[in-house]
Amino acid sequence: MKIAIDGPAGAGKSTVAKIIADRLDLTYIDTGAMYRAIAYGLIHYDISETDSNAIVDFVREAEISLRNNRVYLNDLDVTSQIREPEVSQMTSVVSVIKEVRNMMVDKQRQIAKGSSVVMDGRDIGSVVLPDADYKFYLDANLEERARRRENELEEKGISQTFESVKEDMVQRDFSDMNRQESPLVCTEDAIKICTDHLTIDEVVQKMIEAVGDGHDL
Ligand code: CDP
Repeated sequence: MKIAIDGPAGAGKSTVAKIIADRLDLTYIDTGAMYRAIAYGLIHYDISETDSNAIVDFVREAEISLRNNRVYLNDLDVTSQIREPEVSQMTSVVSVIKEVRNMMVDKQRQIAKGSSVVMDGRDIGSVVLPDADYKFYLDANLEERARRRENELEEKGISQTFESVKEDMVQRDFSDMNRQESPLVCTEDAIKICTDHLTIDEVVQKMIEAVGDGHDL
């Protein structure tokens, strides 16, 4: 079984994806973490965000792996570093580059091949897994999403003011929704869930019910 989850920043995709993966015994693939690992690598190895050729070369050589809920770039554990605000910003720079996206989509399809997965990101239902058995689009209003992100960052010991979390989110959402290459869209066949007034459990419940309609669990 393949489940695709898309939506803007802070909509709760990764939280619910992990729970659904556990409940349905699926492998969770966080594609945002893969783009973030690349963005971290560019900062770490001092590759300029304006040098597209160098970025593409870097992505071609980079080994990204997701193991036991940890993210590795060339065997370096970058799980916590990739959540830093400067990495988030760099991620929207790299994710607009066509060649980068093509290579990432290939890697993601490769990982998903032959496995039962739940994958979250921006282009999963539209590009990476267009034939997914279930597609979800999670959304929430900006204030709510920024509040959630501020809490998450605080839990990780990263301090950023609410206003600046919100501003970063607005910029990243704008870039993700308006870029030329596979922008964030809600596909016609996706089940859209507005999570504004729902708890995590309620969102998971709705998703499991939708999946249960078609499968014996
Ligand atoms: O956690 P959050 O929703 O803020 O973002 P993420 O899923 O970690 O993704 C970080 C960034 O990577 C997004 O803002 C996109 O620019 C990019 N991304 C993408 O372009 N395509 C994907 N499938 C996943 C992430």
